[in-house]
Amino acid sequence: MNQYLKTDEWKIIEVGFDPKNHRASESIFSIGNGNMGQRANFEEKYSGSSLQGSYIAGVYYPDKTRVGWWKNGYPEYYAKVLNAANWIGINILIDTEELDLANCKIKEFRRELNMKEGILHRSYTAVLPSGKEVEAEVTRFVSMTDKEAGAVQYKITPVNFSGSITISPYIDGDVKNEDANYNEKFWIEVKKSISGTKGFVTLETRKTHFQVCTAMDYKMYVDGKEQQLSPETKSAEKYIESSVTIQGKEKQTVSIIKYAVNLSSENHSKEVLDKNAMMVLATMLGKGFDKMLEEHKLAWEKKWEDSDIVIEGDPAAQQAIRFNIFQLHQTYTGDDPRLNIGPKGFTGEKYGGSTYWDTEAYCLSFFMNTAGHLVARNLLKYRYNHLQKAIENAGKLGFTNGAALYPMVTMNGEECHNEWEITFEEIHRNGAIAFAIFNYLRHTSDKEYLSEFGLEVLVAIARFWKQRVNFSQEKKKFVILGVTGPNEYENNVNNNWYTNYIACWCMEYAMEAVEYVKAANPGRFSELSQKMQFDEKLETSDWRNIVANMYYPEDKKLGVFLQQEGFMDKEQILVRDLDPKIRPINQHWSWDRILRSVFIKQADVLQGIYFFEHKFDLETIRKNFEFYEARTVHESSLSPCVHSILAAKTGNIEKAYELYLRTSRLDLDDYNREVAEGLHITSMAGTWMSIVEGFGGMRIIDDKLNFNPLIPDKWKSYSFHIRFRGRLVYVTTNHKEIKISLIRGEKLPILIHGKAFEVDTNKDVLLKR
Ligand code: BGC
Repeated sequence: MNQYLKTDEWKIIEVGFDPKNHRASESIFSIGNGNMGQRANFEEKYSGSSLQGSYIAGVYYPDKTRVGWWKNGYPEYYAKVLNAANWIGINILIDTEELDLANCKIKEFRRELNMKEGILHRSYTAVLPSGKEVEAEVTRFVSMTDKEAGAVQYKITPVNFSGSITISPYIDGDVKNEDANYNEKFWIEVKKSISGTKGFVTLETRKTHFQVCTAMDYKMYVDGKEQQLSPETKSAEKYIESSVTIQGKEKQTVSIIKYAVNLSSENHSKEVLDKNAMMVLATMLGKGFDKMLEEHKLAWEKKWEDSDIVIEGDPAAQQAIRFNIFQLHQTYTGDDPRLNIGPKGFTGEKYGGSTYWDTEAYCLSFFMNTAGHLVARNLLKYRYNHLQKAIENAGKLGFTNGAALYPMVTMNGEECHNEWEITFEEIHRNGAIAFAIFNYLRHTSDKEYLSEFGLEVLVAIARFWKQRVNFSQEKKKFVILGVTGPNEYENNVNNNWYTNYIACWCMEYAMEAVEYVKAANPGRFSELSQKMQFDEKLETSDWRNIVANMYYPEDKKLGVFLQQEGFMDKEQILVRDLDPKIRPINQHWSWDRILRSVFIKQADVLQGIYFFEHKFDLETIRKNFEFYEARTVHESSLSPCVHSILAAKTGNIEKAYELYLRTSRLDLDDYNREVAEGLHITSMAGTWMSIVEGFGGMRIIDDKLNFNPLIPDKWKSYSFHIRFRGRLVYVTTNHKEIKISLIRGEKLPILIHGKAFEVDTNKDVLLKR
């Protein structure tokens, strides 16, 4: 843990500058708008340790795979989110002395992220080696309305001197990824221009040939008065700069507003990229900083209106959930089906910025409930659009007949992962993609989706499972051998309960989808059958046979499902027996020791019980929860939220609260000492689930919304919004009552603690606890 931030309900605040925390803060104070993102790097020079990070959605580089021992079937490359041109940079020269914050004494440093408005502020006083002191105040945002634009307002005041100040805004495309496998730079220069205050740099990625044009312009003010400027310009490879020197007076503030845009060839044709960039830039200048900011704030106000969660009585929990919601909205806005949600979003390089099963298993619920139906549909469409690649991917491993294996990690549908125990074995990911379709349908009732896109995905996934199982003569059951379940602290196991369960569920659900489309849209069904060369009778009878005869490891005496065969052979020690000094175990134990130990990285059996909770009775859920929670070290960020939901389900509110804090403050308190690498964006959606589904007990059962609200002792009340089949519902719970209001949409039957009610826009439901 590393707790150095102040608690505030709407802000993240860092007071005092400690270079040791700088990389962590660069992650935590990141800003973005779904189309681009920016770590909280400083505008002025900082020669200390920093992870530079400006990212453009959808622009990636296929970095040649680096592995010790090549295995057939490994992908050739790993697609990486790219550190793109630095558009925020402003160099400052005081007389002949460079302002480099790493060489100054920094006083009164304050960094503040205003989550309500999406604005990053920073202020400080710096004493330069010469003894000259300057005060600076910086405001930055990445516009939520003008998705290609960002702006910086930089104010500097000499405190104890008068002298020349040279201010040099620049664009620097000579950047690299820290995680480059061969230390290569991924960008080449296409074109650049600088004239007066304006200029641009167009860069192209090697191999993928994406182009991004980054353009800038700026204005300068002294005591609030705009200055006529005659800048000097400079350029170098992938670099442009424009400089203005003014005679600064003691206590007189000079301010510059730097406007920047990033346009990518994903959205503009390459021929007109720079022209368009200069046009968008001119529009931004025409609007001006204040108007841009006003529109940006309004966009955030709207986002919060439908997605805020209010917790009274616990500022740390309140701050945490808002931080999670804020970062999710910054990462994905859902208007482009080509985009998805990387585990680190736009806040770091780790995980390549690609798509994992995290999207379907965790993020979908958040976006479906807070941003709506179409946004969720786009997330599903993303996988539909990659179906052909998933079929090819399965083909490379020897599967046939249109079987699909979705990649563990992807940017464009192709597999990027290259550790055999995950790439080839963590196949449960296919299940989450099918589950997301089911989850989407139960929320939205958009059954059309099945005929349009869903059925093809479900059939291809069922075909994969059919070929991946084998019949064990010894057990007289179907088995699935050589897999890695969600718990990556076990590899190459046989009959992972979760994988066997979800495999069968996928086949059952595919059969339901077949029945539905056949009945609702026979024409479309026969068209699809032809396209997929689907032998309905034969294929479904195989699926049915497997579902009826699957082997599931369990310990009947303990009343628990076993994570895999042989799990009880392990030494049954518990997490509470571990010396806290050796945690996280992945930083202290050898991999061999971890693999042989009983300790579980993340929800595995419990992930299955969470997905399919309606199929298990409460006693089974409780027994499994208690058994696995005692053995789980939660060293994946995706874990505590699922455990928190099941703790709440079994009425263990203290445990649910403890795990909620762990999931929601994971990054703010840096539980796993790794936030410097970037934020855990996808698990943030799990935090949201642990309030709505955990404490709020929200479920959809038989097409109806159910709530079973609990409230942690420490909280006075909490409230959240959800969308359900065209409605926006608002739920408030305190220690005395539960109130459900319908903000928009047609009246709705609901259940609270199993009792039926009807809520309407003019009729709240109020229930005493
Ligand atoms: C987890 C995976 C997850 C990945 C990306 C890993 O540590 O074990 O389940 O998909 O991180 O978040």
